[in-house]
Amino acid sequence: MKYFILFFGYSLLFFMSCNTDESKNGASLILEDMDTYAVIQSQIWDNSCISCHVAGSPFAKQSGLVLTEDVSFLQLINRVPTNSAALADGLLLVGDDGYASFPKSFLWEKINANDAAHFYDDHPEYGAIMPLGDEFLTNGQLEFIRQWIESGAPEKGKVANVSLLDNETRYTAIPFEPLAVPESGFQFHIEPFTVAPGMDREIFLYEKLNNPEAVYVNRVEIAMKSSSHHFLMYQFNEVLVPSRYPPAGLIRDVYTLAGDYRYETLYHLQFHDFVTGTQWPKMDYHYPEGVAFEIPANFGFDLNSHYVNKGTEPIKGEVYANLYTIPRSEVDKIAKLLSVNNLDLNIPANSSQHKILYNFIASEEMNVFQLFSHAHANMTEFRVYGLGGDIDNELLYITFDWEHPPIKEFDPPILLEAGQGFRIETTYDNPNSRALTFGLRSTDEMMILFGAYY
Ligand code: HEC
Repeated sequence: MKYFILFFGYSLLFFMSCNTDESKNGASLILEDMDTYAVIQSQIWDNSCISCHVAGSPFAKQSGLVLTEDVSFLQLINRVPTNSAALADGLLLVGDDGYASFPKSFLWEKINANDAAHFYDDHPEYGAIMPLGDEFLTNGQLEFIRQWIESGAPEKGKVANVSLLDNETRYTAIPFEPLAVPESGFQFHIEPFTVAPGMDREIFLYEKLNNPEAVYVNRVEIAMKSSSHHFLMYQFNEVLVPSRYPPAGLIRDVYTLAGDYRYETLYHLQFHDFVTGTQWPKMDYHYPEGVAFEIPANFGFDLNSHYVNKGTEPIKGEVYANLYTIPRSEVDKIAKLLSVNNLDLNIPANSSQHKILYNFIASEEMNVFQLFSHAHANMTEFRVYGLGGDIDNELLYITFDWEHPPIKEFDPPILLEAGQGFRIETTYDNPNSRALTFGLRSTDEMMILFGAYY
C-alpha cells in the first residue's frame, strides 16, 4: 500500500512538473545558476525552518539541529539524529550514499508529508512532521530534496531541476468522513459545532447507551474533523450520585463566550475516569486478543471534544466514535483503566527545561498494555520509566509532542507487581511571566498518564 501511494505520488509530481515551463520567472532563472543545495538553503530552509532551527533557540536545542546557511550542510550530512527512536532505527539525517541512503534518511521521514499517516502510525515516537506547526512543504520542494538526496546529497553541483519548485501543491490529510455504524456496538456522533477564530472551544456531551445488560468492547474507532486538540471518552466514577449526573444529549461548554469558565461544566470533571481517546484525526484501536473492556448495564459516557482555532475564519468541529462489542463468551480478560493525574504542578515563570517527577505505585498486579500522555503546549518532553523490578529505570514511553502524543501499545504487556510502578518525568518550558499550574485551558498545564491494563 505504501509503495502504491509513493508511486502514485511520484506520477503526480511528474505530471505536475511537465506543465510548468511557461511559469518560469526571473527569480527561477537565477536559481537555475545555483548549486542544488544552495537552492534548498535559500528557498526552503531559510523560508520554512530557520525560525526554529537557529543556534541558541530552544527548538534547535531540543532537535540538535541548526539549519542556517553557515552550518546546515555539516549539520545534516552523515549525522546521527537527536531523536532516540530514529537513532535506534539506524537512520542518519542525510547519508551521502545516494539511493541507498534515501530510505535511511530521517530528514526525509520528517518532511515527507505525503506519507504522514504512515509516519504517525508506524513511528509515533519520531515527533512531528516538519515544519512544525506550519503548512507542509510543497510537493515540488519535496521532490527537489528527494532528487538531491538520491544523487548523493552533494554540497556543490546541480542535481535537480529548479522547475520542480513550481509545483506548489501540498499533501492534505485524509478527508474527514462519517464512520459506518458498527454491526455490533455503538456509535456516538458529536454534530458539527462552530469554533470562533482565535478561540478554544471545549465541550462535553453525556450520552447514554440504553444497554439492558453489560457489553464488552474490544475495538474503538474515532474520526474527527481537523483542528481537534483531542477527543476523550470518560465514565463517571461512583462518587457521583446518579441524581447529580449531567442531562443526556446536551452540549456543555467549558467556557462562556467571554472566555470564562462555566462552573456548572467544571463540576462534573472531578468525577471523570478516562476510558479512551485520541489526539489524532483518526484512530482505530483493537484491544489485545481476548481482552475487552466491560460496560455495565444502562451505562453512559461523557464525551469530550476540544478544538483550537488558530485561524481567522470560524471552523466546525465534528466527531464520530464507534465502540465495537463482542459476546461475553469471547472475552478472556477484562480490561481496566489507568489514569495517573499529577495535580501538583508548579512551573515557575521564565523557566526553561523545568522537570517534574511523579511516581505511580501499583497496589495490585497489573498487565499494562497501553499508555499515552496528556499535557499542554508548554510540555517539551514526557517520559515514563519503570520503577522497581526488572523494568527499573527502563524508558517505557517518551514523547516530545504534546499535541499528538503516541498511544503506545505493549505486546506482551508490562507486568507490574504490587509495589512496582512508573516514574513519570515531564519537562516544560515556561517563557511566560506567570507561573503555570494545573488547569484545563491550553494555556494551563497538565501531567496525566492514561492507559489500560488487566
Ligand atoms: C516551530 C518550530 C520548528 C520549525 C518551523 C521547524 N522545526 Fe524541525 N524541529 C522542531 C522541534 C521542536 C523538533 C524536535 C521535536 C520533533 O522532532 O518533533 C524538530 C526536529 C526536527 C528534525 C529532527 C532532528 C533530529 O535529529 O532528531 C528535523 C530533521 C527537522 N526538525 C527538520 C526541519 C526542517 C527541514 C524544517 C523546515 C522545513 C523544520 N524542521 C522546521 C521545531 C521546528
